[in-house]
Amino acid sequence: MRIIKHFETEAIRTQSKRSHFGEHATPLYMTSSFVFDDAEDMRASFAEEKEKNLYSRFSNPNTTEFVDKIVAMEGAESGYAFATGMAAIFSTFGALLNSGDHIVSARSVFGSTHTLFTKYLPKWNIETSYFKVNEVDKIESLIKPNTKILYAETPTNPAVDILDLERLGKIAKKHNLWLIIDNCFATPYLQRPIEYGADIVVHSATKLLDGQGRVLGGVAVGKKDLIREIYLFSRNTGPALSPFNAWVLSKSLETLAIRVEKHCENAFKVALFLENHSNINWVKYPFLKSHPQYEVAKKQMKKGGNIVAFEIKGGIEAGRNFLNSIEMCSLSANLGDTRTIVTHPASTTHSKLSENDRLEVSITDGLVRVSVGLEYIEDIINDLDQALRA
Ligand SMILES: Cc1ncc(COP(=O)(O)O)c(C=O)c1O
Repeated sequence: MRIIKHFETEAIRTQSKRSHFGEHATPLYMTSSFVFDDAEDMRASFAEEKEKNLYSRFSNPNTTEFVDKIVAMEGAESGYAFATGMAAIFSTFGALLNSGDHIVSARSVFGSTHTLFTKYLPKWNIETSYFKVNEVDKIESLIKPNTKILYAETPTNPAVDILDLERLGKIAKKHNLWLIIDNCFATPYLQRPIEYGADIVVHSATKLLDGQGRVLGGVAVGKKDLIREIYLFSRNTGPALSPFNAWVLSKSLETLAIRVEKHCENAFKVALFLENHSNINWVKYPFLKSHPQYEVAKKQMKKGGNIVAFEIKGGIEAGRNFLNSIEMCSLSANLGDTRTIVTHPASTTHSKLSENDRLEVSITDGLVRVSVGLEYIEDIINDLDQALRA
């Protein structure tokens, strides 16, 4: 009988083999390489006739434990861990694409992913066509004979729009494309894209997977044959996660379910509070009935996540004034931390884009993104309220 059936237990009980010391928690394997018994052991290990760690750019017990947990949580076959989320995304493209290939992607993707599409992948003759989050109907018209990948993140950063994973899965299958989903905002606790047909799921582990704003990390999980290609690319190009960060991240996953539950509870309360606030135009949260893709969110997510987006009345100036008036919450570029973080994309992260380009990805001048943390809810709401009234 298989005793472990639940996500929470798997996150805690997936563990690398104990050493002869019989330690309870996993030790930190701070080693760049591994030793062999003799020449034959070394030959067979390099020939992959034996499953052994060779060198920490390839694998390490700490990174393997972290990857094994994400593989179990996402329902994947295999995975590889990276130094950052961007390393996971870039290496996935680098491993799977050839010169002349084409990507179809949602327009609302994380800024650096967008820069990969517009600045770097074209250097290798890889072009990308975009669809807006409310234009899933148009995807099929963008697919060409050389299209290899359908790419999206959901919920999106920063506007928390939702893409229908079931529809994306069906389109990818019909056209024989690899569906790649950035599951960073939802985490596998809230949403499992592989169940809808995703071939690869990528994460910035820097966000809710760590959840405490300490380390950078990334991971790609999915079909065994594709991950094998990603592994071979990465073992040669070198974006590996450090054993220390993997050790931290693996520990973090033990509390992912309980943390994300509380993040969602707090975020929903913040969204309800903002819904009735006189100084805002609108608030967007996946589990508010007013969210344009509420039904889709309910179908594919367990809860609404920890990001709330709203539009402050008064545009850029009001946004700046709001940030300046915040007392407790942090002004920071990160998200998915125990600490509540507020950002105003139009005056900071996306200030270099024209207003039109910002609107293309739903970033209005008054848009504020709140990554709701784990502080006591009354303290979070009181800080937002006083800054909105300032
Ligand atoms: C949705 C999403 N994907 C990828 C990344 C990149 O992750 P990292 O900063 O770990 O490289 C981020 C970072 O904010 C993100 O929000």
